[in-house]
Amino acid sequence: MSFLSSNKRYYMNEELEEYILGHIDEEPDALARIDHDTHVQNYYWHMCSGHLQGRLIKMLTRMIGPRRVLELGTFSGYSALCLAEGLQDNDCIVDTIEINDEQEDFIREHLALSPYGKRVRLHIGDARDIVPALGERYDLVFIDANKRQYVEYYDLVMDYLNPGGYIIADNTLWAGKVVDPKAQREAQTRGIIDFNDRVKEDPRVEKVIIPLRDGLTLIYKK
Ligand SMILES: C[S@@+](CC[C@H](N)C(=O)[O-])C[C@H]1O[C@@H](n2cnc3c(N)ncnc32)[C@H](O)[C@@H]1O
Repeated sequence: MSFLSSNKRYYMNEELEEYILGHIDEEPDALARIDHDTHVQNYYWHMCSGHLQGRLIKMLTRMIGPRRVLELGTFSGYSALCLAEGLQDNDCIVDTIEINDEQEDFIREHLALSPYGKRVRLHIGDARDIVPALGERYDLVFIDANKRQYVEYYDLVMDYLNPGGYIIADNTLWAGKVVDPKAQREAQTRGIIDFNDRVKEDPRVEKVIIPLRDGLTLIYKK
């Protein structure tokens, strides 16, 4: 038995996940509504952050205390509202960017149903164009858009992230494909592997990967 496997304390399963959800903060009504409507209306419903990851994103935002937050990849607005909920007050802002204009009506309708929706500014377009056009500085960036472009996003947002700021990157274990020899040439897997390697080698940052859901990397800019 290897050192790693002998140190495993538990295996996540549905029963344990139900237990966790029963012992953390409840999902706010506006988020439960987004989750429900996303499941009903969107073929890619699984991209929505959901209860556990959403509460973690809110808690991390509260811990970091950012004034200005950037999100790449809004989808249905779930994580944007979690980021907004974790902010200290209504003077703090989340800029969130979504490339798919067909999502716009859904996002705006659901932001309006949340007490934190006013803290969110939605921008429709390619994050790689919009971030330089906005020209803002950020204390926290959530990267959750096209997996093929993660390295590009990273190199871009590092220029707009304040020293002492954080990046949270989602899906960085990519359903375990990062270590699956058969998946190494898939474009999205390659994108995530290249991103993980880039962050690992970057002396400007401290980093840790949390094996929650599909993998979350926390990055601190020195
Ligand atoms: C995984 S989903 C985001 C999920 C959302 N952050 C959440 O946690 O609920 C990824 C989203 O990124 C969007 N996207 C892909 N490439 C993009 C780009 N270059 N700029 C902005 N959005 C992009 C996709 O259209 C999709 O809606």
